[in-house]
Amino acid sequence: MKAYYRSLTPLILWKHAERPINWAARFWRSAPLVVEIGTGAGEYLVRQAARHPELNFVGIEREWQSVKRALRRIADAQLTNARVLLGDATTILERSFAPHSVDRFYSLFPCPWPKESHEKHRLFNQRFLAILRSKLKPTSQELQEPPFQIVTDHASYRDWIAAQTPGSGFTMDWQAIAPQFDTKYERKWRETGQTEFYQLSFYPTELSQPPHLSQEEIALETYCLPHFNPERFEPRSEGGALTVDFRDYLYDPSRNRAICRVAVIEDGLFQDFWIEINHKPEGWRAVPSDGCLIVPTVGVQRALDLVKEAMIRSAES
Ligand SMILES: C[S@@+](CC[C@H](N)C(=O)[O-])C[C@H]1O[C@@H](n2cnc3c(N)ncnc32)[C@H](O)[C@@H]1O
Repeated sequence: MKAYYRSLTPLILWKHAERPINWAARFWRSAPLVVEIGTGAGEYLVRQAARHPELNFVGIEREWQSVKRALRRIADAQLTNARVLLGDATTILERSFAPHSVDRFYSLFPCPWPKESHEKHRLFNQRFLAILRSKLKPTSQELQEPPFQIVTDHASYRDWIAAQTPGSGFTMDWQAIAPQFDTKYERKWRETGQTEFYQLSFYPTELSQPPHLSQEEIALETYCLPHFNPERFEPRSEGGALTVDFRDYLYDPSRNRAICRVAVIEDGLFQDFWIEINHKPEGWRAVPSDGCLIVPTVGVQRALDLVKEAMIRSAES
């Protein structure tokens, strides 16, 4: 088998982990914590971790293809001070980092979403900045650099972030800089002839309260019903701000077991999982399948409620 990532040890499955994550335990030591957002293939993360063995580094990246490469680089460099989290930065930062626990954030060449109609996809909006602010240590004297920096190739994204900054708990200034990070995206822009990038440096102002969690975790209510007709099960999808989209459905009569796949989208969190309906002595029990690693949100509860309604309908004559 091809060794794509060589070692999974630096990968932290945040959905399985305690919330917030005990970073000192994950690194087997206490050290200042530096977090990179949108790590890509981990080129800069690995170089920085090798250069600063006295610091703990965490990269957050939502694409597995890139995380895989970052894991390979970490293994090749035999680093013990670098970890990677796979997933959306907003969702992960809200849950996996305690308030005032991070010494430094940075992000290199975040996706600029240049089209006006795509502005809503830009990551560094005011709310996200406020989340970062709430996770920074109040006064980290440990590092020389500003506690939070972004480097972008895109002047209009720079100006957009500047407009998002008031009210986020930061002040910001920026300067034009020469290429110096040697990452995939810096090289990409250099190849198009760009020689000037923008470094945005953020400085904490008043201490903000953590912003309200976008998807509150709840104690899920699961259902056990006396009657269910697997042949007539037709759950109804719903659209809107909270989307519940039922996709596949399978029924195994030999095991009296049905399973349906559902996608739930709420506040930018996308979850794709299975709900199984098993025949038990007490009735038909519907629960999210083990191993699907869900974050238990109101959207997941809505999916369970819609399954329950469809189970009831299926049993009506
Ligand atoms: C333009 S690339 C830059 C990658 C790398 N920093 C570099 O300089 O080559 C932006 C990276 O951010 C990641 N990304 C975008 N939005 C993200 C999010 N919400 N959470 C985590 N990663 C994200 C993308 O998958 C991509 O790898």
